[in-house]
Amino acid sequence: MDKINVKDIKIERLQQSHNVKDFRSYEPELASFLIEDALNNQNNQISVTYLWFLNTNELVGYVTLLNDRINLEGELKKIFRGKGIGYHSLPALKVGGLCVDDRYLRKGVGTLMLAFAVKIANHIFKDYAGCRFIVLDAKRNHQNDPIRFYKKVGFEELKQRKKGTTPMYLDLVHNMELHF
Ligand SMILES: CC(C)(COP(=O)(O)OP(=O)(O)OC[C@H]1O[C@@H](n2cnc3c(N)ncnc32)[C@H](O)[C@@H]1OP(=O)(O)O)[C@@H](O)C(=O)NCCC(=O)NCCS
Repeated sequence: MDKINVKDIKIERLQQSHNVKDFRSYEPELASFLIEDALNNQNNQISVTYLWFLNTNELVGYVTLLNDRINLEGELKKIFRGKGIGYHSLPALKVGGLCVDDRYLRKGVGTLMLAFAVKIANHIFKDYAGCRFIVLDAKRNHQNDPIRFYKKVGFEELKQRKKGTTPMYLDLVHNMELHF
């Protein structure tokens, strides 16, 4: 299947005037987050949602970002202690929501949106504030396991869980895969 070229994408910060009500996803919670909650959260300064348009007006996906931290526990704590970093937690950018419209799946949009999150996190670090990781909670159900999608670009499981959501992280210092 042909991948979508990033040159054909336009990214806009969510606004009242955007029409998002026709957004469709096999994960209904992620569609209703965009339709019902994303703007409200943004107006309350909790998160920012970016809409992705193909050829200027086809809404193909969205990504929602907010600040977070990662608690260093277990193996990760040991690794960072070994690097001389003894903090209990480290700063992170959280992908609070990431969803591609059902009509545009498997065309590379999800991967591009993760690369966009990496770009924002590196920009925050370069110009404003420390940010070491991207974090997210991968939502799994019986028909969908996005963990494979995230692992493909370098995310690791923070805690292994058999069902429900799995917290995952990407260390920005060692990321080689995602470029935007
Ligand atoms: C998960 C999701 C964001 C992936 O978006 P996408 O644009 O279809 O993904 P990409 O085209 O960039 O996929 C890149 C690779 O990841 C893997 N991948 C993608 N979706 C996958 C899935 N559902 N299960 C397993 N692997 C998957 C494939 O290897 C794919 O490469 P290929 O198509 O060349 O085989 C999309 O399926 C989605 O929006 N799902 C509903 C909402 C959701 O689950 N969001 C994440 C919750 S935390």
